[in-house]
Amino acid sequence: MHAIAPADLTLRPFHLLDQQWALLVAGAERPNPMTVAWGGFGTLWNRPVVTVFVRPTRFTFELLTREPSFTLSFLPDAWRDALELCGTRSGRDTDKWAASGLVPEPSEMIPVPRVAQAELAFECRVLATTDLDPARFLDPSIAKLYPLADYHRMYFGHVLAAWTRQELTEGVPSG
Ligand SMILES: Cc1cc2nc3c(=O)[nH]c(=O)nc-3n(C[C@H](O)[C@H](O)[C@H](O)COP(=O)(O)O)c2cc1C
Repeated sequence: MHAIAPADLTLRPFHLLDQQWALLVAGAERPNPMTVAWGGFGTLWNRPVVTVFVRPTRFTFELLTREPSFTLSFLPDAWRDALELCGTRSGRDTDKWAASGLVPEPSEMIPVPRVAQAELAFECRVLATTDLDPARFLDPSIAKLYPLADYHRMYFGHVLAAWTRQELTEGVPSG
């Protein structure tokens, strides 16, 4: 992996999140990877910012309360099963690293690891959060996504470091 300035990244942001998915790792003492598909990249408060959305029912939500930093890692297609696992099992009762074969790799700027198998990763410190307010949903179809009323908390993550590599050639499961 090599460091890259956020301004130099050439990304397909809608493909990356909606189709490739990502792993949000939270927690310093006991880091935990969770699959996410909702979020964004941009500029806020004169900083490069990644936004992620976490429901209060997630173990990840508790971890972010304890340690307000996270990493966001994007993996090659060969790791799709691992992403499925991290998006359906909870770190409350599963060691998702052991179950998926994913490996935590220390970050440079924050106490939360990245995913070693990532082809693109961000290290982020949470600058602010805001809880989605259903009273402000203008399109009524949005409320249907919340049958449990577990409205997401939005995290504004200051990108302190970004890492990329051209191709991942080691450790990818075959077949
Ligand atoms: C493709 C996909 C995308 C997901 N995106 C999100 C998301 O953006 N925010 C969220 O709170 N949960 C999302 N989830 C659900 C969590 O990944 C899932 O509930 C996970 O088991 C929570 O793990 P945790 O309890 O260890 O935090 C997604 C799941 C999948 C499969």
